[in-house]
Amino acid sequence: MALSIITLAYCIMLFSGNVVEGTIGLNWGRMANQRLIPSMVVDLFLQNGIPEVKVFSASENVMKAFSGSGIGLTIAIPNESLHEINSTDGARDWVRTKITNFVNMNVDIKYVNVGAEPFSPSFWNQTNFGAVDALRFIQDALNEIGYGDKTKATIPHLTDVLKPNHTKPSDAEFRDDIKEKMIESLQILQENNSPFVMDVFPIYFVRQNNMDVEFAFVDGHSTYFVEDDNGLNYTNLFDFIYDSFLWAMKKAGTPDLKLVVGQIGWPTDGYPDANIANAERFYKSLLPKVASNKGTPLRPGVPIDIYIHSLSDENKMKVKFGAFQRHWGIYRNDGEPKFKIDLSGQGRDVYPTSAKGVTYMPKRWCIFNGDTSNLTKVKYAFEQACLVGDCTSLSPGGSCSHLDFNQNVSYAFNRFFQTKSQKERDDPCEFDGLGKVVPDNPSTGACIFPVEVLAAESIDTGSSMGERMATLSKLVMLLPFLLIFLAFI
Ligand SMILES: *[C@@H]1O[C@H](CO)[C@@H](O)[C@H](O)[C@H]1NC(C)=O
Ligand SMILES: *[C@@H]1O[C@H](CO)[C@@H](O)[C@H](O)[C@H]1NC(C)=O
Ligand SMILES: *[C@@H]1O[C@H](CO)[C@@H](O)[C@H](O)[C@H]1NC(C)=O
Ligand SMILES: *[C@@H]1O[C@H](CO)[C@@H](O)[C@H](O)[C@H]1NC(C)=O
Ligand SMILES: *[C@@H]1O[C@H](CO)[C@@H](O)[C@H](O)[C@H]1NC(C)=O
Ligand SMILES: *[C@@H]1O[C@H](CO)[C@@H](O)[C@H](O)[C@H]1NC(C)=O
Ligand SMILES: *[C@@H]1O[C@H](CO)[C@@H](O)[C@H](O)[C@H]1NC(C)=O
Repeated sequence: MALSIITLAYCIMLFSGNVVEGTIGLNWGRMANQRLIPSMVVDLFLQNGIPEVKVFSASENVMKAFSGSGIGLTIAIPNESLHEINSTDGARDWVRTKITNFVNMNVDIKYVNVGAEPFSPSFWNQTNFGAVDALRFIQDALNEIGYGDKTKATIPHLTDVLKPNHTKPSDAEFRDDIKEKMIESLQILQENNSPFVMDVFPIYFVRQNNMDVEFAFVDGHSTYFVEDDNGLNYTNLFDFIYDSFLWAMKKAGTPDLKLVVGQIGWPTDGYPDANIANAERFYKSLLPKVASNKGTPLRPGVPIDIYIHSLSDENKMKVKFGAFQRHWGIYRNDGEPKFKIDLSGQGRDVYPTSAKGVTYMPKRWCIFNGDTSNLTKVKYAFEQACLVGDCTSLSPGGSCSHLDFNQNVSYAFNRFFQTKSQKERDDPCEFDGLGKVVPDNPSTGACIFPVEVLAAESIDTGSSMGERMATLSKLVMLLPFLLIFLAFI
């Protein structure tokens, strides 16, 4: 009953000229050792007409880059900063430095994400209830200075906040161990007219729950489906999980909250069914569904906002769920799109615009010289290279999982070499006499041996980085040196 009133209310808004439409935004994570500079990324958003971005830390250089762009921002408070926001004063300080400061620079901040999935111990091995107090303090601080109508605080949650293994949406409810704090947070959201935010990784969810992988695609022909859940049928995971959250929210006493999808995407490597063709197919049916404002079976005709995860790959991301976590990008690290995706939701067969002004490192690769006379030494060098370089494409199901042993070693050496910016110590292709630098591209088929882009920014790779770094990254000014170097080879 309550739900249909909401639906009606939305329909009236739709037809009264006050058009409500689903938004397709894009997440921009920066846990990579070589990354696009913020102004380039802002340009990508503008070129592709992407109206909203979520960034995982409110670094000053990133925030400033969006100034005057008209792009709506979601900014996150990382876990390690939550304890600073356990008081009115702490929240006021945070809002002053991270919000007011940038609003004054004409940055449009729509949402503050408090914590990163703080009720999901399957990822962080910890439930951080402090996030709920921080949520209240932050929203109060925003309201106090009159920002409350425009900037909403919320907490993003992963699908594992629901009890596991529910087989139909109406069975969904929040886990018992978090229920009390969840209800408290839902009430804060309700009081402030803020949305609930859910994150879902379809490729992972269907596998964990023994569903047909086809169920993960909106256009799928899945052998798994749900028939007659209170008269509604479910043929794809998006509708299934969205309505599951609606049911859980309803049971927790807040049936009318807006529900936003904070992270959804399809990785292209490092997991079964994670590849470029499937990623293209996934978005090709999902985005038009969102743009059509059709809603889901439980909230038909109600627009849904989603944030695609993610702009580009992050080779420093934790891989606790699997190697695929480093391969969410619709772009490669160099700002080239991996596949066709129509970010406007019209379903056209188009590539998004490439990043402009990217400078590559010299086209050089470091490979194994083939000397297997001491295998212990080779294996040791391989392991050392993979501790620094990202070898996740070698893992089962990955794009380079078909390589033979020697190629494996070459892949690892090259990853190390590129991660070290082809320099940084005397000879990053030494490997105890096992490496050699070559001018010919050793890539084979789908397995790409990358040459990285010239780092314009570099992050502190020494820190543990359980979460996104909030610290300002240091600028690496190596462009002039490499250009000189290039001129001499
Ligand atoms: C979150 O931050 C707190 C300190 O505020 C720290 O004790 C805890 O270990 C962090 N959790 C994770 C998973 O990093
Ligand atoms: C808030 O955090 C400070 C600094 O970590 C700590 O000293 C204080 O006890 C905390 N207060 C509450 C209410 O948790
Ligand atoms: C999770 O945390 C508990 C302590 O809170 C620790 O005993 C356990 O080893 C941790 N598990 C993992 C997989 O990190
Ligand atoms: C959920 O289902 C999976 C796969 O069938 C199973 O491994 C897991 O134990 C189940 N979890 C619970 C809590 O029943
Ligand atoms: C659900 O599926 C059943 C059987 O396929 C069909 O008879 C019924 O009309 C469907 N219901 C809806 C609401 O589409
Ligand atoms: C092989 O290499 C390892 C590590 O470099 C070294 O300790 C070992 O002595 C070498 N073995 C032979 C037979 O040379
Ligand atoms: C290549 O390396 C990956 C990752 O370490 C490993 O799983 C695979 O078995 C290796 N392949 C060969 C042929 O050694």
